[in-house]
Amino acid sequence: MFGNSREVASSQRQAHPRLVEIVGRHLREPFRKPISDASRAAFDALAARVEDASRPLVLDAGCGTGASTLALARRHREAFVVGVDKSRARLEVGQRALACADDVANALLLRCDLVDLWLLAARAGMRFERQYLLYPNPWPKPEYVMRRWPGHPVLPAILACGGALELRTNWDVYALEWAEALRVAGREACVELLIPDGLTPFEAKYAASGHRLWRVESP
Ligand SMILES: C[S@@+](CC[C@H](N)C(=O)[O-])C[C@H]1O[C@@H](n2cnc3c(N)ncnc32)[C@H](O)[C@@H]1O
Repeated sequence: MFGNSREVASSQRQAHPRLVEIVGRHLREPFRKPISDASRAAFDALAARVEDASRPLVLDAGCGTGASTLALARRHREAFVVGVDKSRARLEVGQRALACADDVANALLLRCDLVDLWLLAARAGMRFERQYLLYPNPWPKPEYVMRRWPGHPVLPAILACGGALELRTNWDVYALEWAEALRVAGREACVELLIPDGLTPFEAKYAASGHRLWRVESP
């Protein structure tokens, strides 16, 4: 039922004690990971569209059903907004909405693994003016710290892709870890309580459930 989402439950109450060490290692050591053919094909399709568009690029990373991608395309009319998610089912919902949105010609929904996309984009020199990471999966167990974007080995590639970063989450620990990881990487990061604006479906359901929501902004 809408409005009864559970809060994130975790034994972690603060940033992971090994986060600084983990981020430092990721910043020093290149992340070597095989990239799938499907990811390469998706990235090539994106690169072709981007070349055509010749506008500033905005990334909606983990866009789910793409509701935020459409909203961001309306907010950033001057830009080309790319929503990326790995879920075929969620993206199909988004593709239907995008097809009906006659006022939006500056958005693309792409099925791709984000880790591969960031690695490929960083290597190709693709640069985003702004990246949104809206309600990433929390992976709340402490042992999953390296699955969360702050502790993930893809972090240097995210940063190499450039631009201002905005992360939203309903878990304060995730917000703190993201800010800490950015500071270790030499970036400013400001954590604040968010007044929800319903930018994404997860935001709407968390707000309706009375959760506190957090935004981390890094210029
Ligand atoms: C909690 S949902 C949030 C969706 C949307 N941003 C929102 O707020 O409504 C997280 C989304 O991230 C996507 N995701 C998680 N890991 C991913 C990855 N490695 N590559 C692409 N998408 C991923 C999931 O498929 C899911 O749609």
